[in-house]
Amino acid sequence: MRRSHTTTFIFILVLFYPFLSLAIDTITSTQPLTINQTLVSKGEAFELGFFNPGNDNLYIGIWYKQVQQKTYVWVANRDAPITSSNGTLTIGGNGNIVLLNQTGTAIWSSNQSVPLTNTVAQLLENGNFVVRRENDENPDNYIWQSFDYPTDTFLPEMKLGWNRKTGINRYIRAWKSKTDPGSGDYSFKMDIDGYPEIIIWEKETKYCRSGSWNGKGFSGVPQMQGVSIMHFDFLENSDEISYSFEMLNTSVYSRLIINSTGSLQRFVWVDTTKQWSVYWFFPRDLCDYYGECGTFGICNTNNNPVCTCMTGYTPRNQQAWNLRDGSDGCVRSSKLDCGSDGFLLLKNMKLPEGSRAFVVNTTMNLSECGEICKMNCSCGAYTNMDVTGNGSGCVIWAVDLMDMRQYAETVGGGQDLYVRVAASDLDQSPVTESTNNGSGNGNHVVKIASIAISSFAVLVILLALLYWKKKKIRSLEKSKRDITGPQDRSEDILLNDGVTVTNKKDYYGGTTMDERELHLYDFKTLEMATDNFSDENKLGEGGFGCVYKGNLMEGGIVAVKRLSRISDQGIEELKNEVRLIAKLQHRNLVRLIGCCIEVKEKLLIYEFMENKSLNMFLFDKKKSSMINWKMRFDIICGIARGLLYLHHDSRFKIIHRDLKVSNILLDKDMTPKISDFGMARIFGNDQTEAETTKVVGTYGYMSPEYAMDGLFSTKSDVFSFGVLVLEIVSGTKNRGTFYTTSQLNLLGHIWTLWKEGNALEVLDESVGDKYSKDEVLRCIQIGLLCVQEQPEDRPNMSKVLVMLSSETMQLPQPTYPGFFIVKRRDDTESSSKMDESMTINEVTVTVIDPR
Ligand SMILES: *[C@@H]1O[C@H](CO)[C@@H](O)[C@H](O)[C@H]1NC(C)=O
Ligand SMILES: *[C@@H]1O[C@H](CO)[C@@H](O)[C@H](O)[C@H]1NC(C)=O
Ligand SMILES: *[C@@H]1O[C@H](CO)[C@@H](O)[C@H](O)[C@H]1NC(C)=O
Repeated sequence: MRRSHTTTFIFILVLFYPFLSLAIDTITSTQPLTINQTLVSKGEAFELGFFNPGNDNLYIGIWYKQVQQKTYVWVANRDAPITSSNGTLTIGGNGNIVLLNQTGTAIWSSNQSVPLTNTVAQLLENGNFVVRRENDENPDNYIWQSFDYPTDTFLPEMKLGWNRKTGINRYIRAWKSKTDPGSGDYSFKMDIDGYPEIIIWEKETKYCRSGSWNGKGFSGVPQMQGVSIMHFDFLENSDEISYSFEMLNTSVYSRLIINSTGSLQRFVWVDTTKQWSVYWFFPRDLCDYYGECGTFGICNTNNNPVCTCMTGYTPRNQQAWNLRDGSDGCVRSSKLDCGSDGFLLLKNMKLPEGSRAFVVNTTMNLSECGEICKMNCSCGAYTNMDVTGNGSGCVIWAVDLMDMRQYAETVGGGQDLYVRVAASDLDQSPVTESTNNGSGNGNHVVKIASIAISSFAVLVILLALLYWKKKKIRSLEKSKRDITGPQDRSEDILLNDGVTVTNKKDYYGGTTMDERELHLYDFKTLEMATDNFSDENKLGEGGFGCVYKGNLMEGGIVAVKRLSRISDQGIEELKNEVRLIAKLQHRNLVRLIGCCIEVKEKLLIYEFMENKSLNMFLFDKKKSSMINWKMRFDIICGIARGLLYLHHDSRFKIIHRDLKVSNILLDKDMTPKISDFGMARIFGNDQTEAETTKVVGTYGYMSPEYAMDGLFSTKSDVFSFGVLVLEIVSGTKNRGTFYTTSQLNLLGHIWTLWKEGNALEVLDESVGDKYSKDEVLRCIQIGLLCVQEQPEDRPNMSKVLVMLSSETMQLPQPTYPGFFIVKRRDDTESSSKMDESMTINEVTVTVIDPR
C-alpha cells in the first residue's frame, strides 16, 4: 500500500518534473534556458522561450501564457534566427544575456558595453525581460530591458519615443510576414523634430502621421477620444518625449502592433470569445496617408475629390489633380505681403507636419501666439499646443504646410489652425470656415471676412453653375461639329467623369459620406426581404455566393449577396473593409448599401439593377440587337470610367481582379455599373504579390502574368478590360471561342484580322449598319492595346479614357496579345478534368497556388 503510494508519487513527480522546474522567471549564469524550457512571469501573464513561427528557424520570444493562439509580443533575435534545431539562452561572461546556437556560437546578445558579473535576466509580469544585478530590483537600475527594444508590439507600461538620458528612441517595427519575425518594411516611430508626433514609415519614406499631441490626443487620430477602456499619456520633459497607454482594468490584455502591411492595429483580448478583437486600426482612409494632398492641400473625405487647395492656392499639377492625384499639392496664386496679411481659421484640422513647425512657448495664449506669427514673415500658421481648457502654448509653422486634413464637425478630432493668407483672399474664401472665437489682430480681419464670405459664396456658386452649363453646351456643340482636338476632349471626359469640382453628377455627390453611412441589417430582416432566400428571388450565382432580390419595406428593392465563402477576417475587420468599400461611390460602380455581418452569416446589400448584367444582352441572339453601337460605345466608356475610379481614386488602389461581362450590370437607363469590386479586400486576400497563394479570376479574362504567376496589378485589370471591349465589339465570348483553322482564340483572331487590315469584320452583326467605322476601329485598337502580353505595354485607365475620347489622336500599334493561341486538348486523358472546367461558362475559378 505504502509502496504503491510512493510509486505513484514518484510517477507524478517524473511526469510533472519538467513543468515544475519551469515555474521560474529568471535565468542565471548557472541556470540557463534550454530548448524545451520556458520562463514564466510571476503572475503567469507572460512566457518566454524558444519558438518557431513556421519558417523552420528558432527564435527566442515572449508570448501570453494564458492565450492559446500563440501571440508573440517580443522577439529577441528577429534578424538573427537560429537555423539549427537547438540553442541555449544564458548569461555570458560579461553579464549580458547571450543566445547560443547548437555549436555554442553567440547568435544574439543584449550587448551592453559595461562588463558586469552577478547579473540575472528576469521575465516580469508586464512582459518586460530585464537584465539586472542579482540583488537590485530597482527599475531605474536595470542594465538592459526588452521594453527598450520592442519588436512589433507596444504593451501597457512600455514607452514609445525618446529617452533623453540614454538616447534610445524606442519604436516598433513590423514583422516581415506572419511567419517571419524579421524586420519588415513598416515602422512606427516618434519624430522629435519641431513639434513631436509619431510617424509610420514605409522603409525610408513617411507613410502616415499621427499629428501632434494636443493634450487630448493626436490631432490626426480622432478615434482616441472617447475611448473608455484605456488611458493615453504623452510626456515631454527633460528626461523623455514618450507616448504610452495603460489599461484602466489592468487584467484586460491589450496590445498595439504595426502589421506587415503597414497598419497599426490595437487588439483587445475578449475573455468570453477567447479571441483577440481589433479594437482600432490606422490608417483608416485616404486622407490618413502622408501627403495625399501635398503642401497647402487639405484632404477631406467628405469632399469629392478629397483634395482642395487652401485659400489663395491652386493645384501645382492640374492634370494630375484632375485625375485625383493631389500629391503634388498646391502653389500660391496670390501674393503674400507680410504687413497686410491676415489669418484664416480652419477648424477640425489635423495639424500640418510637425517637423516643419517651431515650438515658440508652452504657456502663451492664442492671441499672443497670433502676434508672434504675424510679426514673423516666415510664419505660415499657428495654433495652441494644448487645446484642453482655454488652450495654451504656441507653435508656429514655417511657410510650407504639409499633409493637412480636415475632419467633419460631427466626427470631432483635429483642432483649430490659423493660416496666413493675403488680405485679398480673406474676402473670397469659399472653402474655409471662418467663424471667430479667438482674439488677436488677425481676427479682426477674419470677422469682416466672414461677413463678406457668405455673400461671395453665393456669387461664386452662381458663377460656377453658369460656367459649368456653358462648358456643357460647348462640349456638346463640339462633338456635334466633330472638330475637337484631343486635348479638349480629354478635358471634357474628365469633366463628364465628375473629376473636377464643377460636375458632381457622376458621383453621389451632394450627399456626404456620413449621410451615406453604411446600413447594418440584421439577418432576420434580410431573410424576410428575400422570402427565405427563395429560388424565385435568386438573381444569380457568383464566385462568392448567391445573389437574391430583396424587398426591404422602407429601403425598396435591393440585391442581397449571401457570401458562401468564409472570410478569414474577424467581424470588426470585415465591417471596416465593407465600410471602406461602401465609400467607393461612382456612377459606374454598383453601390454597396449595407451589410449584415454575423458570426454565421455574411451578406452584402447592393443597389438593385433593373437590367441585370450585360451578359444577358451581349451573348443572347435575340437580345443582342437591342444594344446598338452607340449603346455599346457608351457602355465601354462607362466601364472605363468606373475602372479608372477604382484604380485612381484611392491609395488602396482597388484592383478588381475579376472584371468580366457578367460583372457589368445595367440599370434601367442601361448605364453600366461594375459589380463585385473590392471582394479581394473583403476576403482578406489582398496580400502582397509574393504572398498570393490564390488566384481569383475567370479564365478568358485573366492576364498571363496573373493566371500563371499570380501577379496582379492594375494592368491585369486593364487586360480584362481589353477582353471586355473586344467581346462587346464582336458579341463573342473570348473563352470557349476557338477558330479551328488557325488555332486561335478570339484575341488571336482579332489581332490577326487587325494586322491584315480587316478588323471591321469582327463587329457583331446584330449591331446593324448604324455605326461609326472610326469608333469601332478605335475600340478594337484600344482593346488590343489592353490585352498585349507585356503588362508594361498596356495603357493605364486614364490613358484608355483619353484614347476613347479622342478622335484624332494617333494610337500606338498593338503588339501580339497574351494567350492568343489555344492548345489542342485532344491528346491526353489527364487534361480532361481541366477541359471540363474550361467549358463551364462564366464560372469563377480559383486556382490554388499556381506556382
Ligand atoms: C477586469 O477584467 C477581468 C478580466 O476580464 C474581469 O474578470 C474583472 O471583473 C475586471 N475588473 C473590473 C473591476 O472590471
Ligand atoms: C493590417 O491591418 C489592417 C487594418 O486592420 C488589415 O486590413 C490588414 O489585413 C492587416 N494586415 C495583415 C497582414 O494582417
Ligand atoms: C520665424 O519663424 C521661423 C519658422 O517658423 C523660425 O525658425 C524663426 O526662428 C522665427 N523667427 C523669429 C524672429 O522668431
